[in-house]
Amino acid sequence: MNAIFNTSTKTGDIVTKLPAASKVFKEYKIDFCCGGDRPIGEVLQEKKLNEAEVLEKLNDMYANSTRTDEVQWEEAPLGQVVDHIVNKYHVYTSEVLAELQAFVTKVYRVHGQDHPHLRDVYQAFTSLKGEMEQHLIDEERDVFPHIVAFEETKSETELAKAKAEITKLETEHEAVGDLLKNIREYTNDYNLPPRACNTYRLTYLKLEELETMTHEHVHLENNILFPRLMKA
Ligand SMILES: [Fe+2]
Ligand SMILES: [Fe+2]
Repeated sequence: MNAIFNTSTKTGDIVTKLPAASKVFKEYKIDFCCGGDRPIGEVLQEKKLNEAEVLEKLNDMYANSTRTDEVQWEEAPLGQVVDHIVNKYHVYTSEVLAELQAFVTKVYRVHGQDHPHLRDVYQAFTSLKGEMEQHLIDEERDVFPHIVAFEETKSETELAKAKAEITKLETEHEAVGDLLKNIREYTNDYNLPPRACNTYRLTYLKLEELETMTHEHVHLENNILFPRLMKA
């Protein structure tokens, strides 16, 4: 059988074809959103991971997956991709950031003295929240409407306005990705200390969920939506 993924397949393309691969990548700490245009072979070599083993795992997953009911975002109308990003990821992110602000602050206030890393988490999260909130507004106000207008009218001006923002958005994605990496490091991969209270648990749980959702979110934009605009 011909394997669909090989060492030269880009990590972002793997997740586009096989969304469940994001779980494998998380396990191996492989970046598929901001670093999604790197060939998997190169990344595996760099991380000194077993190429054959990881590729076999991904190819087996692909062979056994049923993708009939999944929307193919590489082909769906651009308006639908944008709606999906806003409804699934932007709405969630705005809500969870507000919720987490209270949790992260409380955990730092109550346990910060005994667990000094909570100060780093608090600071990184505060930056992350500021970055992300601004970013979501910019996309929804200054970028997505031009994409929808371009699809409806085929206006080159609308397309150019959307394209002009891509580099800035990608840079912001990278900044957000770095902050999430930092938080993962500070929390020792979200490992809770013994006898952690419920707020502590919930804070780690929600931070890690935000990381997963942000990786999926950025993947859709960096590896699917933006390249489609560049090719349009
Ligand atoms: Fe977004
Ligand atoms: Fe974005």
